[in-house]
Amino acid sequence: MAIPEFSRSIKIAPSILSADFADFGAEIRAIEAQGADWVHVDVMDGHFVPNLTFGPPAVKAFRPHVKTVMDVHLMIAPVDPYIDAFAEAGADILTAHVEAGPHIHRTLQAIRGAGMKAGVALNPGTPAEAVAHLLDLTDLICVMTVNPGFGGQKFIDMTAKISALRAMIGDRPVHIEIDGGVTPETAPLVAAAGADVLVAGSAVFKGGSVADPAPYGANIAAIRAAAGAAV
Ligand code: DX5
Ligand code: ZN
Repeated sequence: MAIPEFSRSIKIAPSILSADFADFGAEIRAIEAQGADWVHVDVMDGHFVPNLTFGPPAVKAFRPHVKTVMDVHLMIAPVDPYIDAFAEAGADILTAHVEAGPHIHRTLQAIRGAGMKAGVALNPGTPAEAVAHLLDLTDLICVMTVNPGFGGQKFIDMTAKISALRAMIGDRPVHIEIDGGVTPETAPLVAAAGADVLVAGSAVFKGGSVADPAPYGANIAAIRAAAGAAV
């Protein structure tokens, strides 16, 4: 799909890491019907992070079900050999970690060169300054508020980093995305600091299922309302 025009309004991006792995198509359709703005896809390689999820063929299979924006978060190293495969799989946004290799600048150029929006992710231990020279090469900065690898972890407060990034970005059309431990309790903190994309896995999928998706909608609405009240 065509990515909507840039906006800083709050967007909720459920992570399908918390979906039923035997029923991804139906889960994606359910979260979108229940109000998801984007669909967040966590790719893990068992090397950069201590967990394995799925690769380009699976992402390609998700594509026809995603009617909003497919936001693909790579927790893999190296990244560059796989960029074309994720472009062919239909990623709208492809995010690589700054810690995943020595040449993030080249990686971001290659992602845009392959026709996708380019994201850069920062682990909790990595300072905002790591992206200071990448701001004109990126469309999204993903601030990890957990150490990547697993859903359902406890939120790590990164509000000072988010505020610093918001100031660095200025008027550039760069999203600030928060990933990890986002709930109705933590969403206001990150929204107030300047985040506009909130990834949430366990807090969206809890209590619901494909057969009973209404809790997904209530969970998305609760996060959106809590974030909206803070900005
Ligand atoms: C963590 C992933 C996250 C994760 C978020 O490595 O990048 O996207 O699924 O899950 P919750 O919202 O449960 O912390
Ligand atoms: Zn993620």
